[in-house]
Amino acid sequence: MTDLRPDRLLYEGKAKQVYAADSADEIVIHYKDDATAFNGVKKAQIADKGVINCKLSAFFMEKMAAAGVPTAFLKQVGPRDQLCRKVEIIPVELVVRNVVAGSLAKRLGRPEGEKLARPLLEHFYKSDELNDPQINEDGAILMGYAKAWELAAMREYALTVNDALRAFWDSLGVELVDFKLEFGRYHGQVVLADEITPDGSRLWERATGRKLDKDVFRRDLGDLSETYRELYSRVFGEALR
Ligand code: TMP
Ligand code: ASP
Repeated sequence: MTDLRPDRLLYEGKAKQVYAADSADEIVIHYKDDATAFNGVKKAQIADKGVINCKLSAFFMEKMAAAGVPTAFLKQVGPRDQLCRKVEIIPVELVVRNVVAGSLAKRLGRPEGEKLARPLLEHFYKSDELNDPQINEDGAILMGYAKAWELAAMREYALTVNDALRAFWDSLGVELVDFKLEFGRYHGQVVLADEITPDGSRLWERATGRKLDKDVFRRDLGDLSETYRELYSRVFGEALR
C-alpha cells in the first residue's frame, strides 16, 4: 500500500523524507535515523530513531486531534511511515516555552531552568539558509509568510497542544520545557503539521533533571538511541523490540 519508490520522492529533509501517495491530496512521511544539530553542522545516525519518532509523533498527533487541534496526520502505514494530508507548510515555526532553556537562555542571559509564569510563544522564519531567524508576528505578516488570522489560529492551537502535552508528560514524571511546532494550509484551513517528537522538544526528568531529548546529542550528554528507547518504553509501557 505504501510504495516509497525513488521516483515518488518529493522532498528530503534532515530527518524525514516526503513521498507522493496514491491520492494527490496526501503524502507519505518517512522517518530516517539521521540526527542533525546546529542546522546540519553536526550529524549522526541514531539506531531506531526513525521508528521511535514515527510512532511517538503518530501517538501525539492523535492526542492533539482528540484535544480539538486539526492535524495533517492520517495514519501510520509502516514502522517509519505515516500517511498525512498534503499541506502547504507555513514558513513560520512556533516555539512554545514553559521553562527557560536553549536559545532563549542564551539570547537573554537567563539561567536554564527558570520557570516562566505562563507559556511564552516565539516565532521563527523557517529558512535553513538563514538559520531560522526569530521574527515577530508583525514581521511575518508584512513579509507575507502568514496571514494574521493564520498566526492567531496557530497561536491558539499551540497553547492547546501545550496544555495537552504538558499534562501527558507530567503524568510520566517528565517536564515539558519547550517544543517547536509547524503548521500547514489545507483547503483554506490551518492544521498542525510536521512532527511532535523529542527531536523538537525539551523533556526533563522531574526527579533528576536528566535530559530525555535531542539535547543529549546536541550537547554530547550520552547515547541518544538509549535515551529515545527509554522514552519509548515510558510512553508505550513496553520496550521497543
Ligand atoms: P531553541 O532553544 O534552540 O530555540 O529551541 C527551542 C525548541 O525548539 C527546542 O525544543 C528544540 C526545538 N527546535 C527545533 O525543533 N528545531 C530547530 O531547528 C531548533 C533551533 C529548535
Ligand atoms: N534541527 C536543526 C538541525 O538539524 C537544529 C537543531 O535541532 O538543533 O540542525
